Amino acid sequence: MNWEEFESKAQSCHACGLSSGRTNVVIGRGSKNQGRILFVGEGPGENEDRQGLPFVGQAGRLLDLALGALEFSPDDYYIANVVKCRPPQNREPSEEECEMCLPLLRHQFILLKPRIVVCLGSVAARNLLSKDARITAVRGEWVRKGNTLFTATYHPAALLRDESKKADFYYDLKKVRDTAAEIFKTEN
Ligand code: URA
Repeated sequence: MNWEEFESKAQSCHACGLSSGRTNVVIGRGSKNQGRILFVGEGPGENEDRQGLPFVGQAGRLLDLALGALEFSPDDYYIANVVKCRPPQNREPSEEECEMCLPLLRHQFILLKPRIVVCLGSVAARNLLSKDARITAVRGEWVRKGNTLFTATYHPAALLRDESKKADFYYDLKKVRDTAAEIFKTEN
């Protein structure tokens, strides 16, 4: 399945109840180059649902600001979520909703073949790293699965609630940038 086929399949997904409340399926944004970085958040909020793009609200602005300040190249990353439809009242997606939606993220994984996956927050960490992952315990750790390195950091929305997490968030992203630079240097 190529990107076009995948996106059209995702657009018509009704695998779980979240589909009934959506305005748009929020698939992803960023570079579709293979072998780069995949950032994974939790699920769309109100702005994302309206625009059909992930991380375009307040948390997204914080993420973009950090990636810009740390000079990540826009060619080097793609941003997606565990669930592609907005949970009502921005509640956390249930385990079942995540499970129903994960095949779409797996497909993005197949298309992107990322060398680095960054879990943004505990929903992504629980679904991609380990079932009982707690962000304070796993952030900054690196796990290799096949040809891909997985890590986690705070969800950018957590920084809006607690400014003191900002320094750790930047520190984690700096490590991602430097690790990516090492990998890309030897592969390009
Ligand atoms: N929070 C997320 O986890 N994803 C988005 O796309 C926006 C906010």
